Amino acid sequence: MNQKEENRREFLKRAALTAVALPFLLNCKSDTLAQKSNEDVLSLLKKNAKSSGAEGMGAIDAPPNVSWKTILSTNADKGEKMLISGTVFEADGKTPAPNVLIYLYHTDIEGYYGRSGGEHKHGRYRGWLLTDASGRYEFQTIKPAPYPENRFAAHIHTTLTTKNMREDWIDSTLFEGDSLISTRERETAGRKGGFNPIVKLEKGANRIWQARRDIQLWKA
Ligand SMILES: [Fe+2]
Repeated sequence: MNQKEENRREFLKRAALTAVALPFLLNCKSDTLAQKSNEDVLSLLKKNAKSSGAEGMGAIDAPPNVSWKTILSTNADKGEKMLISGTVFEADGKTPAPNVLIYLYHTDIEGYYGRSGGEHKHGRYRGWLLTDASGRYEFQTIKPAPYPENRFAAHIHTTLTTKNMREDWIDSTLFEGDSLISTRERETAGRKGGFNPIVKLEKGANRIWQARRDIQLWKA
């Protein structure tokens, strides 16, 4: 093989290797940037989170890898699995709201939050979401039970934090068909139209309960 032919082969080999490696390198770079961007967003949002221990609040504890999807339960947990998803919209009810920090927590299948001294007072079914560029969020968990005294409907506590608004509660998610939903709760929920917090669970193809809850932000 002459020198010219050898150079040509070496050139082709390097070109092929670069073609394989380049997308990988670019992906790594964009993933890193995306993650960094999320972390930056999160640190901004945490300035609007209520302090640790504020009643019912938890945005302050959001982990750095917060995503628009999360799972609150484990496969070992008893209870009916359910998947709740939706979109958060600006106060106009039409514009999707990205980078909204959602904090959630709910009782276990016997209606309890934290059971022992070592557990967080909100229990172990707690989690965080950061809405994506389209305002979407999605979480999987098990269906909570009402408190043991059976006076209040089963619910998922929810707070929202944005870069313009301090952490605050929104209506808890309730479940259609729960006989403990009060008349007042039903009336208040009914006034919210497409943003009704009483969700209807339906069995999906994968046998998991599924429901949609869209959320409208309030005016800052
Ligand atoms: Fe509660």
